[in-house]
Amino acid sequence: MKQIAICPGSFDPITKGHLDIISRTAAMFDNVVVLLLNNENKSCSFSLDERKELIEKCVKGLKNVKVDTYDGLLADYAAKNNAFVIVKGLRAMSDFEYEFQMALTNRKLNPKVETLFLTTSAENMYLSSSMVKQIAGMGGDVSDFVPPEILGDILERLRLKNKKES
Ligand code: PNS
Repeated sequence: MKQIAICPGSFDPITKGHLDIISRTAAMFDNVVVLLLNNENKSCSFSLDERKELIEKCVKGLKNVKVDTYDGLLADYAAKNNAFVIVKGLRAMSDFEYEFQMALTNRKLNPKVETLFLTTSAENMYLSSSMVKQIAGMGGDVSDFVPPEILGDILERLRLKNKKES
């Protein structure tokens, strides 16, 4: 049976850090689903369709990767799609407690599912979507942080948002 790995997240927006984890997962598993989910603790700046489109642009060259969305529990999506592996990136210790809690909860909800953690690449250690939004929103350079194929989209979108708000 082909092994499906899920890379879940809110991806608001996708960064080079996310893409690094997705590419490394794609090198290890037959099929990878980048799964866009709701994070109850975050209110997103990009709509679900926008986030999906941005991810699709970034993973175009990865033939075993598809993008999906789900309005529900990650554990349920995994069960419905015969996926037994969730892959997440771990940055510094600050990620650990939250990720550990989610991994245990997901396994409680779906005992067949395992969460694997990949250590983030050193250059992405400090990188986050909220940092990207903050820097780009204030006119800073985010070209080191977001994949080049979506840099223009992100700048345009955040500039528009800022214009509307001012
Ligand atoms: O990129 P994020 O925001 O850290 O990803 C968190 C996400 C979206 C993976 C998490 O909030 C999630 O799994 N949401 C779906 C609902 C769910 O399954 N909640 C229970 C998780 S313990």
